[in-house]
Amino acid sequence: MALETEKLSEHVGVQVKRVDASQPFDKETLTAVYKAWVDHSVLVLREQELTPQQFVDFGRQFGKPIEQNLKHLNVEDCPELAFISSEDRDIHGTGKRIVRGTSWHTDHSYAEVPPKGTMLFGIDIPEKGGDTQFTSAAAAFDALPDAQRARLDGMRSIHAFESSRSPRPMVKRTPEEIAAYPGDAEHPLIRTNPDTGRKSIYVNTVRSERILDLPDEESGALLDELYAKIGQEEFQYRHKWQPGDIVLWDNRSVLHKANGDYEGKRFLYRIMIEGDKPI
Ligand SMILES: [Fe+2]
Repeated sequence: MALETEKLSEHVGVQVKRVDASQPFDKETLTAVYKAWVDHSVLVLREQELTPQQFVDFGRQFGKPIEQNLKHLNVEDCPELAFISSEDRDIHGTGKRIVRGTSWHTDHSYAEVPPKGTMLFGIDIPEKGGDTQFTSAAAAFDALPDAQRARLDGMRSIHAFESSRSPRPMVKRTPEEIAAYPGDAEHPLIRTNPDTGRKSIYVNTVRSERILDLPDEESGALLDELYAKIGQEEFQYRHKWQPGDIVLWDNRSVLHKANGDYEGKRFLYRIMIEGDKPI
């Protein structure tokens, strides 16, 4: 079936119109919506009215929702459903309010098998600010010179929960939360999205610790060079939230970042979908 769609930027994002996410999609619609998502890396649905359980059921159509790790930021009795709130606090660390995700990252890359997708459902949205930015790590890869693409493809890198190079502190975890993801993960520097066959640069400003087989200084310089490339405006889409928005992104192809430049109440539900080991 033909979906009614609108591209949201040159490289990232598509809005699918006239679909109701509160009801299960029929097979044909789901196939088309899934394809629109992976082809454009970010899928936007607007004006949706769902209960929290309907949102979990919506997410389940794209893959298995994972149990989320930071227990105090999960919805009680529903380990698959977390939230992002203006009231979030680092309760096991400083105790202060925190805005998570404010530099370019791909979710949970410290895990051996990171989630392929993350989705948010906007409930309380401030008048101004709090946008989520996305940038195409696939378009950034394509834009590299041939020789550099060939050199990077095949390199491997280490992702930690909190890299020594991270520009911002991570939320402190309990011993149980650390035990769920105890070590660092080694991933390819350039990964291939199994759904599209497209390659992208797989780095993370808060998690990427070092590129293997390079001296420290050279590894750090190359990571910074890749962050600069990925962060170029031409590869970006900036989502301005409205209540009722569902935004689903492909962690294999885009990086994203949050903005804490808002006042007042902000609340969104979050689901993450199980992925494959990066290849
Ligand atoms: Fe994130």
